[in-house]
Amino acid sequence: MSKVVVVYHSGYGHTRVMADAVAQGVERHSDSTCRLIAVEEVEAYWEVLHRADAIIFGAPTYMGSASAAFKQFMEATAPFYLARPWRNKLAAGFTNSGNLCGDKLNTLLQMAVFAAQHSMIWVGLDLLPPRAFDGTFDGQLNRLGSSLGAMSQSGVEQPPGQSPPIEDRLTAAHLGERVARLAERLVER
Ligand SMILES: Cc1cc2nc3c(=O)[nH]c(=O)nc-3n(C[C@H](O)[C@H](O)[C@H](O)COP(=O)(O)O)c2cc1C
Repeated sequence: MSKVVVVYHSGYGHTRVMADAVAQGVERHSDSTCRLIAVEEVEAYWEVLHRADAIIFGAPTYMGSASAAFKQFMEATAPFYLARPWRNKLAAGFTNSGNLCGDKLNTLLQMAVFAAQHSMIWVGLDLLPPRAFDGTFDGQLNRLGSSLGAMSQSGVEQPPGQSPPIEDRLTAAHLGERVARLAERLVER
């Protein structure tokens, strides 16, 4: 059994949709549990994070990087940087933005460097980019062609119930399940 925690920020609800999808993917894997923690409430849950086998980070991309609230969470971990309670835990990430690109790779890079600073083991997305030769992406996972983590795109005018699209949510679920599977292997050792 593996314990996975998703720590996320979502200003307007779209990244929260992705966080839910990641959690559903984690729990698709037998015996894995997933706890969702919003960055606004993280101060009460450090021990939950320290006991997890894997932590998956989620943030919207604001101005080409992780949102300020998520960055605040990152900086709040500095007091235990030296003690390294997250050493050898798995880490992964997802981000959502308004534009197809939106410079959101930078957000995943920030998360991966952050995980490395905590001596964590980064898990990327094991999905090839979709075959786009005929120009259609419908129904295909990883439609945005990311390797480092799960990406999603939400129209800023669309409410979270309609966006991000199902392909992005299924991609997020795939990442969650992958992390749960790998975390279980790590726990067994
Ligand atoms: C302050 C701010 C900055 C933003 N910067 C970007 C950006 O750099 N790239 C982009 O594609 N979208 C950008 N957006 C759009 C958001 O990424 C998009 O609305 C996203 O769905 C918000 O996620 P949330 O609902 O979880 O907060 C920005 C939105 C805000 C409010």
